[in-house]
Amino acid sequence: MDDCTRRYEAWLADPRVNRFLETRWQPQTGQAILEFVRQAIASDSGHLLAIVELSSGRHIGNIKIGAINQRHLSADVSYFIGEVDCWGKGYGSEAVGLAVRLAFEELGLFRLQAGVYSSNVASIRVLARNGFVQEGCWRQALVTQESMRDDHLWFGLMRDEWARLSQQGPRHGPGDGPSDGQ
Ligand SMILES: CC(C)(COP(=O)(O)OP(=O)(O)OC[C@H]1O[C@@H](n2cnc3c(N)ncnc32)[C@H](O)[C@@H]1OP(=O)(O)O)[C@@H](O)C(=O)NCCC(=O)NCCS
Repeated sequence: MDDCTRRYEAWLADPRVNRFLETRWQPQTGQAILEFVRQAIASDSGHLLAIVELSSGRHIGNIKIGAINQRHLSADVSYFIGEVDCWGKGYGSEAVGLAVRLAFEELGLFRLQAGVYSSNVASIRVLARNGFVQEGCWRQALVTQESMRDDHLWFGLMRDEWARLSQQGPRHGPGDGPSDGQ
């Protein structure tokens, strides 16, 4: 709960950060954030993790595995880096790589999926670098910050695909998920 700071509140209010987050539709007060984190900790159907910059010890964002479907051994993955000065340093890719590893090696899941606005280039890159494959497109399903319509793209990754790609070697640090080789 110590990570529920004013800073965290400011991240979610920042239009650069919340541009592709569904949280932008409701005011994210300190109380709402506390409640969200409290529920996430109490829940046994997901894992909410802090993304921490190793060099500074700063909490810079969050990543979530969940909701987990224990019958189908699948889960959604979602993430954001709130500290904009930390974008483009590989942290998003590394965090997703570590979450994928946790999901497949520790939690025993078989499949992960993530939904993304088609205009969210950075997030699509993060998923592709970790071996996620685009599986679907809900055409014009979303409304953007600029009140334009956008496609909702769906990406998925299976444990066996990830294991195969992982054997090709590390790409971006300790998370070391597979990448598309670029
Ligand atoms: C999406 C997000 C997590 C990416 O994190 P990041 O740490 O900046 O990503 P990385 O540094 O690992 O970069 C991944 C790729 O995206 C590219 N990228 C990063 N920021 C970018 C930007 N603003 N525009 C275009 N490409 C960008 C990087 O160059 C890199 O490309 P490469 O694979 O060709 O080298 C981060 O931008 C973010 O939190 N955005 C706001 C919230 C959000 O969109 N969450 C995801 C919802 S699905």
